[in-house]
Order: sequence, then C-alpha cells, then structure tokens
Amino acid sequence: MLLDSYPNFISGSLLAQTLGISRVAVWSRINKLRLQGIDIRAIQNVGYRLVGEPIILNKNLVYAWLEHINYKNCQLFIYDSINSTNIETEKLLTENTSKLPIVVIADKQTNGKGRLNKKWTSPSGGNVYLSIGFKPNVEVLKLRKFTLYLGMQIVKLLRNEFNTEKFMVKWPNDIILNEKKIGGILTEASIDSERVNSLIFGLGINLYQTPKLNRNKNKLKPTSISHELGIEPSLHPLTARIIKMVVKSYNNCINQKIDPNFLSEWNEYDYLNNKDISVLKGDDLSKGNCQGIDHDGNLLLKFPNGSKKSFSSGEIDLLQ
Ligand code: BTN
Repeated sequence: MLLDSYPNFISGSLLAQTLGISRVAVWSRINKLRLQGIDIRAIQNVGYRLVGEPIILNKNLVYAWLEHINYKNCQLFIYDSINSTNIETEKLLTENTSKLPIVVIADKQTNGKGRLNKKWTSPSGGNVYLSIGFKPNVEVLKLRKFTLYLGMQIVKLLRNEFNTEKFMVKWPNDIILNEKKIGGILTEASIDSERVNSLIFGLGINLYQTPKLNRNKNKLKPTSISHELGIEPSLHPLTARIIKMVVKSYNNCINQKIDPNFLSEWNEYDYLNNKDISVLKGDDLSKGNCQGIDHDGNLLLKFPNGSKKSFSSGEIDLLQ
C-alpha cells in the first residue's frame, strides 16, 4: 500500500482499516519495516510515506514490488546466500513444479556460474543474481533465439530504467555499459530427443559491487551500474520488472509471437558491430571485422580478404 500511494502519504487510519488492525498495530508494523532498512516517513495526522529502500535484497520488498506491478504468476524463492541460483533452480525444477516458472533470487552466490565454464564472482550487497526456470516441452527450434532475444530485451529494459542509451549487448549476451561489462546471461537447457525439457534463464547484473578479477588487456573490465552512472539504483523494482519481462518474453517465444525479424533490431543494441574482434572456438582463433549477426543469430565475421564466416558460439575479444 505504501508503494501504491508513493510518492504521496497514506493515512494510518486507511492502512488500519484495510488491514483490519488497530492504528497502534500499524505503527508497530511500520517500525518493523524500518528495522529492515526501509525508510518510511511519518507525519502526525497525515500518515506514512515511503522514502527509500535498502540496497541489500529484502524479501518483503520483492514481493511488494511484484504485487505492485501486478505480477503473481511464479513460485518465488529468495535466499541470503546460495551456491548458484541456476543450480538451485535446476534442483527445484526436478522436485517442485506445482507452479511454474520457478524464480530464484539471492543476495550472494558462493559458486556463481558464468558462460564457458567460468566463475561468476557474486559478492553480497545489492547486485542482481536471478534465475527463472521453465518446463517448455517444445522443439529446440522454437527456443533457439531465446537467449539473444532476452539479452536485447534486458538491454532495452535497462535503457528505459536508467534513461540512457549507453547499455549495449555483446554477442551472445554480455551486458555492456561504457565499454565495460556490467552483466551477463547464462541460459541452460536440458534436451530430451529434440525437445526442451527444462530451461533455466540466469541473469547477473552488477548494480553496486564490482567483482575484482584479473583480466588480460583484451577483456572487458567488470564494473557496476552505480559506479558508471554515479547513481544508487533500486534493486527491488528492477528485479520485479525483470521477472515480469522475462516471463512475458519467454511466453512470446513459446507462442511464436516474437517478430521473426527481431534480429534486424539487434544492430541498434550491438556493441560489437563494425569492431575488429577475435573469436576463439576450441583451439581455433579467427580474427576479423564483426558484421553483426545473421538470420539464425550467428555472429558474422568478415576477414581482411573479404570472405565471411558465421559462428554459432565462441569467446569474443576486441582486437586492440
Ligand atoms: C556470463 O558469463 O556472462 C554469464 C553470467 C551469468 C551469471 C548469473 S548470476 C545468476 C545466475 N546464477 C549463476 O550461477 N549464474 C547466473
């Protein structure tokens, strides 16, 4: 109710009446919220007003924001610490499918997973570590472009949320801000005879904490949105909006509702377009100029002799 009336005050008597409790009980609940770091202003004879949210993940706020944006169709699991939200989602998907999708969020991960078997350093303190698990039971083909589409949708949402076009996507799905990496997506699927049995969409976004990694000079430096934009992003509304958007995008993919030409939109968000890059696939290193992606979502590389080659996977670095 505090979120619904934000930025205005809501009266203590309206809160008491709606909740069916006394005004003293309202006061005591407000104090409990304050102890959780939720900043609430009270003025006698006026009421209560939400002023600020804690940076650290707060379960009640995730629930409140999901309700506020009218999204209830998932099973939510929130942890202070977990090995990996993707691993936990995989476990829950095998034992608890009464309501799908399953959404797992954590304040920190002790064994965060990145793409290409890398570690995803996941310190506590306001970053997004989120996984959403589905049981699609559809042919692989229907979900082939899912990750690319989602990467683009995440970038759109971040541009909108933070009111800047500086967010870009680096194929296949690194999230870039100011030429540095602020996030990534790890999609994992289990496939049974050409059908996708389970699908886990894992997303990490550095809102506040920048992992300290020793990277060589060709790798993009990790950074955080707070550091780059000089702001204090709100974790809870962002998390809620991401969950709603991902589930909607997933349903669009399953129901073939996405524009088959969405890849032509890719250029607008493409960090690599026209850059000189290297693609490492197994032991093969190819160098050339990036020409965006083809109709199937493969990365297109143009070699100095004019020939082109497409890549369905690989590790991409910029050439200096
Ligand atoms: C990448 O390598 O860029 C992908 C990183 C994906 C990290 C997220 S954090 C939430 C989810 N759980 C994990 O263990 N990994 C993903």
